Amino acid sequence: MRQAFKNTSWHWDSDAARKVGDAPDHARLYLRMMDESDYAERLAPVVGTLAGAVLDIGAGAGSLTRHCLAPGAHWLAVEPNPEMGRALESLRAPLSGRGVRVDWIPSRWEDLNRESRPGGLKADCAVAFNMGATHHEADRLYDVMRACSPGTMIWVVPAQEAPSSFCLAGYLPEEFWGGACVPAYQKTLEQLGAGRRPDQIELVDWTCRSSFASRNEVMTYFIDRLDVSGDVAAAAELRAVLARKLERESAGNRVSCSKRSAVLFWRFGQ
Ligand SMILES: C[S@@+](CC[C@H](N)C(=O)[O-])C[C@H]1O[C@@H](n2cnc3c(N)ncnc32)[C@H](O)[C@@H]1O
Repeated sequence: MRQAFKNTSWHWDSDAARKVGDAPDHARLYLRMMDESDYAERLAPVVGTLAGAVLDIGAGAGSLTRHCLAPGAHWLAVEPNPEMGRALESLRAPLSGRGVRVDWIPSRWEDLNRESRPGGLKADCAVAFNMGATHHEADRLYDVMRACSPGTMIWVVPAQEAPSSFCLAGYLPEEFWGGACVPAYQKTLEQLGAGRRPDQIELVDWTCRSSFASRNEVMTYFIDRLDVSGDVAAAAELRAVLARKLERESAGNRVSCSKRSAVLFWRFGQ
C-alpha cells in the first residue's frame, strides 16, 4: 500500500513543504496551532524572562516571545511575512499596557546588515524561536545575531525525530513522511561546530494541537501538505487512514502530536 506514496514527488523538505510562514493561510494556521498547543506554556519557563532590547529573528506573532518579555522590554521583531506583521501590530496596544514597546522590522535576517539604522541593530539579547535558519544556516545566523552584541542568545530548535517543517507530521504513521529523521537541533550543532557551541541545552516536550472545522478540512489539510491531491490512490489511502484514526480517537476534528524542542543558550561575557 505504501507504493502509492513512494511514487509521489512529495518530500517533507521540498519547496512545497516549506510553505508554512510564507503564505497568509499557512501563517494563520500556524498561529492557530500554536495558540491551541502548549508550546508557550511548556517553553516559556525554560526560556525565562527577556529584558531590555530583545532582537527576535523570525518573530512570527511572538507565540512564545510575548510570554517571556519583561515589563519595559523593547521587542525588535524581525519578520518578513506581512500576515505575521499584521498580527504583531495588533499586539502593540495590549503589550504597551505591560510597558513593552513593539517594533516590527519587516525584513529577512539575511538583510539585517543592510538596515539603515544609525549604529546598526543593537540588542541586549537575541532570540530565534522555531525558525528554519537555526538548522539550515546555523553558522551564518549565529554570526548575524552575535554582531548585534547581545549579552545572551537563545534559540528554540525542533528536536523530535519527525520533520521540523511539518508541524502535524507526527499525527500520521511515519511511513507517510519517510521514517524517523535526524532531529533538527543535531544539524544545528553540527553546523555551528565547536567554536560556537551553546553553553546550555535543555530539551522540552510539548503537544502540537489543531482543531479543524470539519473532517473534510482535516483531510484537505493533510492531502495538501503531503502534496498528493493529484495522486488518486495516495489521496484515497490518506483519507482512509485519517478517517480510521479520527474515529478511533473520538477527538472530533482535533488532531494532535507529540513534539520536542531544544532550547539553546549562549551567555557572552559572563
Ligand atoms: C515557524 S514560524 C516561528 C514564529 C515564532 N518565532 C514562534 O516561536 O512561533 C517561523 C517564522 O520565521 C519567519 N521567517 C522565514 N524566513 C525568514 C527570514 N529569512 N528572516 C526572518 N524571518 C523569517 C516566517 O515568516 C515565520 O513567521
